[in-house]
Amino acid sequence: MVTDEEIERAAAILRAGGLVAFPTETVYGLGADAANATAVRRIFAAKGRPADHPLIVHISDMSGLKHWAVDVPRGAWLLAEKYWPGPLTMILKRAPHVADAVTGGERTIGLRVPSHPVAQRLLRAFGGGVAAPSANRFGHLSPTTAGHVREDLGEAVDAILDGGACPVGIESTIVDLSGAQPAILRPGHIGAKQIEDALLVQLGAAGAASPRAPGRLASHYAPLTALKLMHPDEIENFIRRQAPGAAVAVLARRSRPRDTRAALWQVAPEQPEDYARHLYALLRRIDSAGCALILVETPPELPEWAAVRDRLSRAASSAEPAALPSAVAAR
Ligand code: TXA
Ligand code: MG
Repeated sequence: MVTDEEIERAAAILRAGGLVAFPTETVYGLGADAANATAVRRIFAAKGRPADHPLIVHISDMSGLKHWAVDVPRGAWLLAEKYWPGPLTMILKRAPHVADAVTGGERTIGLRVPSHPVAQRLLRAFGGGVAAPSANRFGHLSPTTAGHVREDLGEAVDAILDGGACPVGIESTIVDLSGAQPAILRPGHIGAKQIEDALLVQLGAAGAASPRAPGRLASHYAPLTALKLMHPDEIENFIRRQAPGAAVAVLARRSRPRDTRAALWQVAPEQPEDYARHLYALLRRIDSAGCALILVETPPELPEWAAVRDRLSRAASSAEPAALPSAVAAR
């Protein structure tokens, strides 16, 4: 339980230019007053994040759209009505007063109304916009508990509001509405079909013309241990070919086969939404087990798995041959 006193104290920290980590329905955010460029720059320092990476500004309700963005298209209001508060971020043309520190110098701004009750209470007590990336060190797995935030950022944060485990578990869907045709920049809990149905238009492909979304870089959301996606049928043979003693961890949706040579077998939930909710916590747990390699069963090629597939393929890109243990790289 987060008390009203904690909320008031956190709002006062934001007003004073400090950093507050807070739960959202997706992942924990590392927040600063979006109207205070000095405070926003502290976020980048705490995360070790390059300064040209734009932040999402969190607002308490859709009335803030007009303050932070200009030329707000009808589609943005439609999506706001339907999915805010919720795990959806919209990229819009930024208002002139928005600091470059927030948008990484882009002419657009990312806006989101989170639904988590603690995030809502904080935003209402504070009264302004809160710029917040995920509360992890740059490039690491996003935190879905207050404990994860403490592990990653510890002393760099002035307060951590503990709202328990995040119910969605992966970052918000990002829709770009700043160009001629809406496009999804990052898949999430709210799927492409749902966005298309609300907008009554077909989504474009995120192309060279879309704003950069650095979360789309390879090697994001990655554990420290090398990670490889693999078809379920190939896993056992692959492990057999490893040097003796090379500890391999497996993340799979089926239970541990009796004869597996995996050093660690972690069972993940069957359904995509449950899988997403637990994904980062499971990867953190496996990551700390000291294995040489994590093999993850490739999720199904179905639309409802798009967001999980996206995060796993980014986590996997850290497993380029050079980063693999020699027994693997030699093959
Ligand atoms: O669920 C979430 O979105 C979480 C919670 C805390 O709200 N936040 C989050 O923030 O994932 P972050 O900074 O880790 O990822 C935000 C993504 C980045 O990939 C960034 O490039 C993109 O949003 N983004 C933000 N503003 C943008 C803009 N103006 N243009 C293009 N991409 C933008
Ligand atoms: Mg992030």
